[in-house]
Amino acid sequence: MFSRDRTLVWLAGFLGVVVCAFAVWQEMNPGYRRYQREFRRLIEERFGPERAALTPAGVQQIWIRSANRVDRCTSCHLGVTWEGLENADLPYRTHSKKPLEHHPIERFGCTYCHGGQGYATKLPDAHGWVKDWEEPLLDTTLAKDYRVREKWAFVEMNCNVCHRFEREIDGAGIVNLGKKLIREKGCRACHIINGRGGTIGPDLTWEGDKNPEQYDYTRITTLPTLLAWQIGHLQSPKSFSPDTVMPDFGFKSHEAMAIALVLMSWRKVDIPVDLLPGVVRKDVPTPEELERERTMREGEGKFFVEKTCFICHDVSSLGIVSATKIGPNLALAVEDAPRRFGRTLDSFLMNPTGTMQVVLSKQIQLTDEEKREAIRLLKLAYRKYKEQQSAAENKP
Ligand code: HEC
Ligand code: HEC
Ligand code: HEC
Ligand code: HEC
Ligand code: HEC
Repeated sequence: MFSRDRTLVWLAGFLGVVVCAFAVWQEMNPGYRRYQREFRRLIEERFGPERAALTPAGVQQIWIRSANRVDRCTSCHLGVTWEGLENADLPYRTHSKKPLEHHPIERFGCTYCHGGQGYATKLPDAHGWVKDWEEPLLDTTLAKDYRVREKWAFVEMNCNVCHRFEREIDGAGIVNLGKKLIREKGCRACHIINGRGGTIGPDLTWEGDKNPEQYDYTRITTLPTLLAWQIGHLQSPKSFSPDTVMPDFGFKSHEAMAIALVLMSWRKVDIPVDLLPGVVRKDVPTPEELERERTMREGEGKFFVEKTCFICHDVSSLGIVSATKIGPNLALAVEDAPRRFGRTLDSFLMNPTGTMQVVLSKQIQLTDEEKREAIRLLKLAYRKYKEQQSAAENKP
């Protein structure tokens, strides 16, 4: 008798522990049912019992047929397409209209823009806070961690996975800034991007797919991620690879972030053709851009790109364009150097003073032969400059 009671007490205690553990576990892994109950209550409060009766029950899912992928986020995010829940708490809030205007959820689902684990119906799993899940929800805390002003900067990165060939995407400001800088700073002089560009640096076309393990994070003080590496490298290429010729463009942290987001968006994602914007399928350059890129890479002035003089100097008559224009236009150096320094260009470059003394001793090392090549090219540039000028004057 006694021992049976003891067993019962023991069993009851054990059950109690199990129930408690289950409750704690449920609290930490809330499933969709709890949110559906609360949603029904919310709708009843706001719109009455009739509409509450119409709220969905059971797993909700969007099946993206062509990708054979399901997003069940709407099992909890129940108000996405409702009117009148704009000020409700998450996850019940109405979705802002703008992103869904061109991307109706029936066709696009949620995860192409937001990340997360589409088929999960419990919170930590769905938001991708699970080990080894590669595409966590790109939520606003991520933006906080990286101190970006745009709360949804990381969603913009995903916009660009589909919209990579457009110059500008309405609604993706920080990504647009990154794309503009990549175009203007002449990255293509040294890097192939979408099949076009130079080969001094690595091909960047699928930069977002590179294996994070191949990078060294010892210099990263923030998060040891590829994104953080990209930001650091863009701001100071030499601290990551001391011998690199990649220039320090003096990017502000906001600009480096914008470029890094674009670089990270350049990855191969299996997206069905019917979900890719059709208008522009290729990165179509204007004819002027093509010509400028070609001239910088292959033209007579390519020396000034390869040696990175173009970071600071235009050589206008050879088609070399500097983004910073820190130094004078070298097309005029033949007549300018004597005026500025009281000696010939040859003498100046062989034994420079001022800024160029620092540049040529610290930043760019040239052999005497390379210096003579620079002088030869600058004389050519000057002749061309004069020719172009007289041609312009002789025009009616
Ligand atoms: C089990 C319920 C549940 C599921 C399933 C779920 N969510 Fe959530 N979601 C929530 C809750 C609760 C919040 C608000 C609290 C929070 O942010 O943790 C939220 C917040 C969010 C936010 C706002 C984050 C922020 O930083 O403000 C986004 C975006 C989001 N969810 C997207 C998704 C996507 C995409 C999916 C599908 C992959 C999904 N959710 C699936 C419950 C869920
Ligand atoms: C075309 C891309 C796109 C799709 C598809 C998309 N969203 Fe969003 N979503 C955004 C953007 C951009 C924002 C933030 C800016 C805004 O609110 O306009 C956002 C914001 C959110 C928020 C935060 C709302 C808030 O007020 O803080 C939640 C939650 C969310 N989305 C859930 C979803 C769910 C669930 C789906 C699928 C049913 C979905 N989204 C589909 C782009 C998208
Ligand atoms: C899964 C791929 C995909 C993602 C992710 C995506 N879009 Fe789109 N977007 C499209 C497609 C496809 C269209 C063309 C819609 C149609 O078929 O009419 C489009 C159209 C647009 C348009 C209308 C003008 C145009 O270029 O056709 C804008 C603006 C736009 N998207 C912005 C965004 C923004 C901002 C985001 C991120 C919040 C985003 N897109 C995310 C595929 C995508
Ligand atoms: C003068 C040539 C030159 C220019 C201009 C240049 N780069 Fe580079 N870049 C290099 C070289 C060389 C490397 C390889 C060594 C290194 O990591 O710095 C490199 C490396 C990189 C890497 C790392 C690639 C990897 O995964 O290892 C990225 C990303 C990059 N450059 C982006 C850019 C961007 C964006 C621009 C324009 C704003 C740019 N580069 C302009 C020469 C250049
Ligand atoms: C970091 C910026 C920077 C780089 C890189 C740079 N220069 Fe300069 N350079 C200057 C500045 C600034 C001047 C103006 C003179 C001064 O302030 O001392 C100058 C002046 C010159 C002059 C004299 C021009 C004149 O009109 O008087 C020549 C020639 C010259 N640089 C050649 C070069 C060559 C060749 C390279 C590449 C091997 C190069 N520079 C790289 C900043 C730079």
